[in-house]
Amino acid sequence: MSFRLPADLLDRPTPFYFYDLALLDRTLTALQQAARPRGFQVHYALKANANAPILDLIRQHGLGADCVSGGEVQRALDAGFAPDHVVFAGVGKSDAEINLALAADIWCFNAESVEELTVLNELAGAQNRRTRVALRVNPNVDAYTHPHITTGLDANKFGISLSDLGGVIEQLENLPNLELVGLHTHVGSQITNLTVFEKLSQKLNELQTWLEDRGHHLPHLNLGGGLGIDYHQPDQHSVPDFEQYFRTFEQHLQRRPNQQVHVELGRSIVAQCGSLVSRVLYVKHSQQRRFAILDAGMTELIRPALYGSYHAIQNLTSQLPAQDYDVVGPICESSDTFGRQVLLPETRRGDLLAIRSAGAYGEVMSSGYNLREKAGAEYR
Ligand code: LLP
Repeated sequence: MSFRLPADLLDRPTPFYFYDLALLDRTLTALQQAARPRGFQVHYALKANANAPILDLIRQHGLGADCVSGGEVQRALDAGFAPDHVVFAGVGKSDAEINLALAADIWCFNAESVEELTVLNELAGAQNRRTRVALRVNPNVDAYTHPHITTGLDANKFGISLSDLGGVIEQLENLPNLELVGLHTHVGSQITNLTVFEKLSQKLNELQTWLEDRGHHLPHLNLGGGLGIDYHQPDQHSVPDFEQYFRTFEQHLQRRPNQQVHVELGRSIVAQCGSLVSRVLYVKHSQQRRFAILDAGMTELIRPALYGSYHAIQNLTSQLPAQDYDVVGPICESSDTFGRQVLLPETRRGDLLAIRSAGAYGEVMSSGYNLREKAGAEYR
């Protein structure tokens, strides 16, 4: 593993998130080189990381913004994303959030139910507006990922079931302030098996034909996000294989002439560019284990506690022979564990550790549990 912390940060108070903007820049270049020639438009899912320097770079590379709350819509607008490159998705949008997005005249609402469409129509009318909507369909495609981040199965709360879609489209005729522009799907996150996207394409092909037989031609198709990253080898695969990802859709999705196809990626853009840097407070030996107790915990990175996720851990300051450690945080929960029996160079109080691939769903999911202070961030 080859992550190196700039020398001037070695004495910085910990914990903090370190973001490698040069790597983010390379990632975005590779992403657009794979997407643009194939005619795919990329929206960045702000939920993965919404820090200003990161959004700035992402906007400069020409991506749009995929938002799931009024706060994210506002953050995207503040970061300079043009309103017509902003979409608002989410299963539970509040009236205040809808009103904010309507007033900004964002490009599109991804709607998930007739109930939501009815409210959206009413609120748009009150603002004397007509707004664009895409229907999020639940295609019942298994993403073969962690159950907590699987979203496209019938049992999940997301989207409109295929069997209800015809009825919802009929009801749209009674909602004059809404213009149907497309379909939206998102089947899950950290998807590493690309046959999932093949199956999604096939479902969408069938669905489009079915809609066209009923006279509906949709100018926009949003395939969602979900491309996974290699958490095990953060250095070998520091830029995800976007070519292979877009090639899968290119080969399997039947696109209509002049149809705009969007993807909304989060993790694969930012995960690898972030590390959580933490100092070892104590090394403690119990009857069975050797614990490295850090000053960062599940409050800074909850993924291991919440999903049992693996994150590579690197000792940045020790070159000694390796031993195994349970790497844990200071929080009063046994799930506050970053890794069990992790092989690390002999680790001592004061050593600096990097928990890798923490750029996505790290800082945004942090909490103040145990009344902890929020960790800062550094960008290079
Ligand atoms: N679009 C929609 C509608 C989504 O729900 C999500 C993620 C994305 C796009 C972006 O997906 P990505 O490309 O990042 O996989 N906290 C979890 C991940 C939750 C993902 C939620 N939705 C984790 O730490 O693994």
